[in-house]
Amino acid sequence: MSAEMTATRPEIKTDFAITALSALMAAEVTGLDLAMPLDAAVQRQIHAAFLEHRLLVFRGQNLTKEEQVAFTEQFGTLERHTTRNRGTANLPLVHIVSNLDEDGKPMGRVRSDMWHTDKSFRPAPSMATILHAVTLPPEGGDTVFVDMHAAYDGLDAATKDEIVDLRVVHSWELSRENEGRVLSAEELADAPDNAHPLARVHPETGRTAIFVGMHASHIEGKPFDAGRALVLRLEEHATQPRYQYRHSWRPGDLLMWDNRCLLHRAEANFDAATYPRILHRTCIRGTPTSP
Ligand SMILES: [Fe+2]
Repeated sequence: MSAEMTATRPEIKTDFAITALSALMAAEVTGLDLAMPLDAAVQRQIHAAFLEHRLLVFRGQNLTKEEQVAFTEQFGTLERHTTRNRGTANLPLVHIVSNLDEDGKPMGRVRSDMWHTDKSFRPAPSMATILHAVTLPPEGGDTVFVDMHAAYDGLDAATKDEIVDLRVVHSWELSRENEGRVLSAEELADAPDNAHPLARVHPETGRTAIFVGMHASHIEGKPFDAGRALVLRLEEHATQPRYQYRHSWRPGDLLMWDNRCLLHRAEANFDAATYPRILHRTCIRGTPTSP
């Protein structure tokens, strides 16, 4: 091979960088092509960064749905979605998140705009969500996150004592009702209520988080209204601006976040009746919160 050919041969990129984006959470990962399998050492570094920063922002990606599934499977078991969010027939494990109506037209609002953690109504709530930008509005359409470890740490001692042994019921039925929709019998059978520790210990880091959000309904063993009031009080505390991190999407972004300690919501801070906002979502199954 001539020197000239060697000089023009594309280099295989093996170096990458992880840079913190704020003191609260989030790190940017540059220099990786997630369409390619990660070697074991890189996988370990990504997993460690995921535990440390809780939200990873991979820049410059352009994954097909199949490639997103392959990327996701490197970190755990893919999780199915609710019966209504089955995704497309050929790849049901990739859920298409969009502001489009059934005719494919922007409908003027975004879904998932209330604070929540994905699939917290399951007995083994989702460990991680991977969300890849496909079509973004010219600006806005942010996703905002809350650090539920920092929120727990910020509780007064009396409240920590009050919640230490409580279990919170997470209910898909209630959260759909709050959005004005009654579940079908099939949906209800597919996603029954489940209770979890309200002060949830992270299975990998040992840190405690407040485990609430829009699926959180009430407290097991307490009168409904009193338990509901506590859930809402904790959510109000946790979602203060000082515990929030805002992600402004760039083309090519792929986010991976830890559902065990973050809440998130989409924000319609763009003209959602004009511009499409489309993302591909995969989820990794977590572990049961109770022995
Ligand atoms: Fe979500």
